Amino acid sequence: MRFTQSLAVLVAFTTGTAQASSHSGPIWVDEVPTYVRPYAIQHYSAGGCVVGQQIYRFPVTGPSSDNAFTLMSTNAPGSDSLGVLPHTHQLHYENMFSFRGRFQLWTEKDGDQETRILTQGDYGAIPQNATHTFQFLDPDTEMLGVVQPGGFEDLFYALSSGNFSSSTSSPYDPLASANSSSPSATVISSLQKLDVYAELDFSPRTDAINGAAPMNSTWRTGSNTLPSDAHTPYFVAKDYGPKYLSTEGGYQVIQPFVTPTTSGGNFTLSTITMDRLSSNVTVGDQSFTGHAAFEVLEGQLTVLMGGEVLSLLQGDVVFIPGTTTYKYYSLVAYTKVLLISQGAEGLDTKLIANATSWNSPIWPTS
Ligand SMILES: *[C@@H]1O[C@H](CO)[C@@H](O)[C@H](O)[C@H]1NC(C)=O
Ligand SMILES: *[C@@H]1O[C@H](CO)[C@@H](O)[C@H](O)[C@H]1NC(C)=O
Ligand SMILES: *[C@@H]1O[C@H](CO)[C@@H](O)[C@H](O)[C@H]1NC(C)=O
Ligand SMILES: *[C@@H]1O[C@H](CO)[C@@H](O)[C@H](O)[C@H]1NC(C)=O
Ligand SMILES: *[C@@H]1O[C@H](CO)[C@@H](O)[C@H](O)[C@H]1NC(C)=O
Ligand SMILES: *[C@@H]1O[C@H](CO)[C@@H](O)[C@H](O)[C@H]1NC(C)=O
Ligand SMILES: *[C@@H]1O[C@H](CO)[C@@H](O)[C@H](O)[C@H]1NC(C)=O
Repeated sequence: MRFTQSLAVLVAFTTGTAQASSHSGPIWVDEVPTYVRPYAIQHYSAGGCVVGQQIYRFPVTGPSSDNAFTLMSTNAPGSDSLGVLPHTHQLHYENMFSFRGRFQLWTEKDGDQETRILTQGDYGAIPQNATHTFQFLDPDTEMLGVVQPGGFEDLFYALSSGNFSSSTSSPYDPLASANSSSPSATVISSLQKLDVYAELDFSPRTDAINGAAPMNSTWRTGSNTLPSDAHTPYFVAKDYGPKYLSTEGGYQVIQPFVTPTTSGGNFTLSTITMDRLSSNVTVGDQSFTGHAAFEVLEGQLTVLMGGEVLSLLQGDVVFIPGTTTYKYYSLVAYTKVLLISQGAEGLDTKLIANATSWNSPIWPTS
């Protein structure tokens, strides 16, 4: 008994120390700032709101990024109905990515309706004026959204029944009613001032086979190439898109989802997978004109910024304002991050410019 008690004290002490060293200091915040500054925020800490059974959180907002982009995550159980009624945006470019679990995404542009079932690591691009809708499929699904320009969270607060809070950091409320997951047609039709245009005639196709329709779609059956324009919707299955191997500061595999070409120069979005920092490597300083954010997908990302050593785990986000000098690396064997950069000259573009085209998501053995 005495032993158990002292063990409990030891565990409590150790946990407290670990949190103090990794999640304290002025850069770690509990609330997303309302102005541009460097910050890091833990998974499930960002404020958010309730839309039916879906919980929307916003680790990067219009105010925190000077409207460069919004980074959001939506947690929800599977549903029998669409998560939102079909609609378009005229000004906002939307990107959806599965952090975990499955959701189905439909897009239509110029009469070509496509659908894919996205699971962990899969990506879908929704340029301006593309009709889209989605449906949550798995019991514990987390969908990441990147919307450019920023400020798009205003829409979800307008649709919501209230702000979300959970003393247990629950991703969503498992007891929430399954009724009214999706805002009604009347509500969706009244949202044009928030850049939402209802497309209530859109009929989502139900003929997906192996997670895709039309039948000739390439979905886990071959490479997904990115379009050479900024208006065609497209999908990239995990590890089936373009890949580049960089040897700067160890190995990094860069997989772009959005390039300066596909965003009209407005932003870029890539995953970067990196090996463990080797003791004989000197990590270089980074600094870019545009604002940027990393979200950790796997492993642990270390970021040196503003005199602090930040240690980020899965789902944690660090926001790096333009012209901030920082370093980043992994102290564990495999770290994968999602990187969002404002403009056409972010870290991913710089790494790709000096990398070689590579046909594996994995780096060489030596
Ligand atoms: C989107 O549609 C609107 C309304 O038709 C049009 O004014 C705008 O130019 C379109 N934007 C793009 C990027 O195609
Ligand atoms: C909900 O959160 C938003 C964004 O932080 C905030 O502006 C708003 O005041 C909050 N609403 C309530 C009722 O607390
Ligand atoms: C859904 O709404 C119906 C009718 O309003 C109600 O009878 C039912 O209990 C609700 N279901 C849930 C799970 O709350
Ligand atoms: C798939 O088939 C349709 C019509 O059958 C065609 O218009 C389209 O270009 C095809 N797509 C691909 C990727 O081959
Ligand atoms: C890029 O940004 C400009 C200026 O805001 C906008 O007019 C244009 O539609 C955007 N293009 C894309 C593809 O997002
Ligand atoms: C660093 O050390 C490893 C072996 O530990 C070696 O394979 C590698 O070539 C070294 N890299 C540099 C840049 O010296
Ligand atoms: C490009 O990569 C090589 C190693 O592959 C490195 O020596 C060189 O410094 C890099 N150049 C730039 C501009 O980063």
